[in-house]
Amino acid sequence: MTIAVSPAPQAVEIQRRAPLHEVDSEIWQVIQDETGRQRQNLELIASENFTSRAILEATGSTLTNKYAEGLPGRRYYGGCAVVDRAETLAIQRAKALFGAEHANVQAHSGSQANMAAYFAVLQPGDIILGMSLDQGGHLTHGSPRNFSGKLYRIVGYGVRRDTETIDYDEVAHLAAEHRPRLLLAGATAYPRIIDFPRLRAIADSVGALLMVDMAHIAGLVAAGLHPSPVPYADIVTSTTHKTLRGPRGGFILCRAAYAEAVDKAVMPGIQGGPLMHVIAAKAVCFREAATPVFAAYQTQIVANARALAAALAERGFRIVSGGTDNHMMLVDLTPRGLTGREAETVLDQAGITVNKNLVPFDTQKPLVTSGVRIGTPAVTTRGMQEPEMGTIAELIDRALTHRHDPAIQAEVRAAVHDLTARFPLYEEL
Ligand SMILES: Cc1ncc(COP(=O)(O)O)c(C=O)c1O
Repeated sequence: MTIAVSPAPQAVEIQRRAPLHEVDSEIWQVIQDETGRQRQNLELIASENFTSRAILEATGSTLTNKYAEGLPGRRYYGGCAVVDRAETLAIQRAKALFGAEHANVQAHSGSQANMAAYFAVLQPGDIILGMSLDQGGHLTHGSPRNFSGKLYRIVGYGVRRDTETIDYDEVAHLAAEHRPRLLLAGATAYPRIIDFPRLRAIADSVGALLMVDMAHIAGLVAAGLHPSPVPYADIVTSTTHKTLRGPRGGFILCRAAYAEAVDKAVMPGIQGGPLMHVIAAKAVCFREAATPVFAAYQTQIVANARALAAALAERGFRIVSGGTDNHMMLVDLTPRGLTGREAETVLDQAGITVNKNLVPFDTQKPLVTSGVRIGTPAVTTRGMQEPEMGTIAELIDRALTHRHDPAIQAEVRAAVHDLTARFPLYEEL
């Protein structure tokens, strides 16, 4: 018979209190290296950003320990009175920020916010009319490899060939032909203003619900720089971590009529316990987003995107739709004889992070693509303005033009490091 020997209480205590670098030097090193990468590189991925110190603090807090299935005041666990305060603040602030009748802040991510929204108002087999993935829509808007494409019948709309902007006539035509239960707007790669009143009118003309996924533009909407979908849509979903600059997560806004269905679709529909530390950080994010400082930041994101698109166009790059109204642009590299995949790799080696992206009517495969998507939220968070956008365009141009010249590649990399060193990040960490 073996007798279990409890570790000495002192050893247990030491493990419980030890700092990360002592407990797990490998993961500690990963965090150091990633912080270093974020500091040193030029982050131009349109869906990424750098949260404030306050949001990092809330995300790394003891609230991670609390189970709180249910909603504030109606939980399936005891001891929730304290975390209830965090979720109530997050809900109140989200509603006030976007002028919504109801908010659910528990979705773990944008994808889960979309899943819950569909579950709240659709039955399997219902028709969704949404933006095609190869024209800018998101995976959860009906990819055959995603639950959305497996559970629902998807009809896709796209952009016009001549303007590369949403073809609203086609949307109206497809709506009349297919009579969808849900008209879905919002995109992952669309650089122009979306006309929500027009989409509402189309939805009404066929008795469809209107849902808007504003994940990319939520920060601009909060600051009044993109028209709000809230007055027009039955349900609005979003992430908190893109232009909104909060923790990684999702949330749902809706009309009061759908409040109960949305809440039930989130829990017990698709999730268990909410991430209370992330919900606390979402509350901080909504508070930050309601300030004039944040509105000025969003204004600069848009000004920077315009400046960068113009500077790239001056250097002979083809900007899809001729420019941008928001925080991102799509660059068609076909005239430069490059694929998106090649450009992503070359730029990555130079310390410039972008992602390859299909352009409208792309003839390349999704893992190759003809373009890259470029966004300005993260570099704007660092304090960069229009003059730096000119420098970035020059660096991108130089890296791609001289992609086979290691000396010039090294020069560009050094210039990237000089530029980022002038705009420090997370100095307080
Ligand atoms: C429009 C849109 N919706 C939803 C999502 C999904 O968000 P998450 O990655 O948090 O699941 C994204 C992510 O890129 C997106 O662009």
